Amino acid sequence: MTYRYLTLDRVDPSGLRVLVRADLNVPLEDGRVADDFRIRSALEVIQRLREAGSVVVACSHLGRPKGPDPSLRMDPVARRMSELGGFEVRKLDHVVGPEVESAVDDARPGDVLLLENTRFEPGETANDPALADRLARLADLFCQDAFGSVHRAHASTVGVAERVRSVAGPLLDRELTALGRFLQEPDRPYVAVLGGAKVSDKLGVVRNLLPRVDAMAVGGGMCFTFLAARGAAVGQSRVEEDRIGEVGELLDGPYGERIHLPVDVVVADRFDAGADHRVVPADSIPEGWMGLDIGPETAARFADLVEKAGSVFWNGPMGVFEWEAFRAGTERLARAVAACPGFTAVGGGDSVAALRLLGLERSVSHLSTGGGSGPRVSGRKRTARGEGIGEVGG
Ligand code: 3PG
Repeated sequence: MTYRYLTLDRVDPSGLRVLVRADLNVPLEDGRVADDFRIRSALEVIQRLREAGSVVVACSHLGRPKGPDPSLRMDPVARRMSELGGFEVRKLDHVVGPEVESAVDDARPGDVLLLENTRFEPGETANDPALADRLARLADLFCQDAFGSVHRAHASTVGVAERVRSVAGPLLDRELTALGRFLQEPDRPYVAVLGGAKVSDKLGVVRNLLPRVDAMAVGGGMCFTFLAARGAAVGQSRVEEDRIGEVGELLDGPYGERIHLPVDVVVADRFDAGADHRVVPADSIPEGWMGLDIGPETAARFADLVEKAGSVFWNGPMGVFEWEAFRAGTERLARAVAACPGFTAVGGGDSVAALRLLGLERSVSHLSTGGGSGPRVSGRKRTARGEGIGEVGG
């Protein structure tokens, strides 16, 4: 599939005020950026515009606030961007309004301003025309570079693009080109590996991918809803009861045989890094125990699928990889993806973080900035790792 869109390199942005929609939705820990992959990825367009002599007005959402939330201000993002880029980032305290307009008017070519969290404005997620108008007032050119957010019809993505001359940024262009390979004629076998906590977040992806892939390996917290739909005893593992029916339909559907589920899992007696743990068959998890990683036999089977694949798409860790006792499944899989000679793409903050933890990020064909990696409100804590197998990230 070839997408047709105007890219930044086809226009001359010098002297223009350029509103850059980036995806700076990053995990935070104690008020600091816990993973700066998305900020690093956004720097290319910002540097390019600075060098071209544009006034750069960057914006993004952070988390899912329903209005102003002091813990989700963009200040830590601005600080990290400035450290990484080696230039000053002037963080503004509003998204739109007279103060923002005068800051933009006063800015000089090469200056970088960062607006406040776009979701502090209630009109953002509603794609309110009034908010889109006010954003449009800040720019001569709109550069959409927020790959992780382009599926949202919000004021800072769609609304403003309808009002100002718009181009795709280099990151968005690269992501579409790389991931477009999975839609054209992917080298076969095409294997998808899905993990992460919430099956409800991934069902759309499962439905979309199943007709296209040759095999889909399912691990992470989401696999227990699949196992429950198969009638397995899952103990205290995370199961989304209201999704069991839907998952059962997928398993029994025309592509159900493509779905590979764990045959063994690492279970723990509590959700804790130091919990007592052991390996049990995936269909008979004892009462009082919860699955926190795929087991060694499953990891070997998934790795075998991946190593022989022509194309691999991986999103979501296989277990609570932040905790050593539950890291082996994700690690085995990451090594298999790195070893696969085919085209490999990895997306989702936690999967990319796992690769980086293992020093394998340069061994995959494409690291995607898409797929859940922002601050999430967890049932247990505000976590930087919303996709972890045992987390309840929203
Ligand atoms: C993400 O992390 O998936 C993107 O930033 C989009 O975030 P959202 O799901 O809150 O719109």
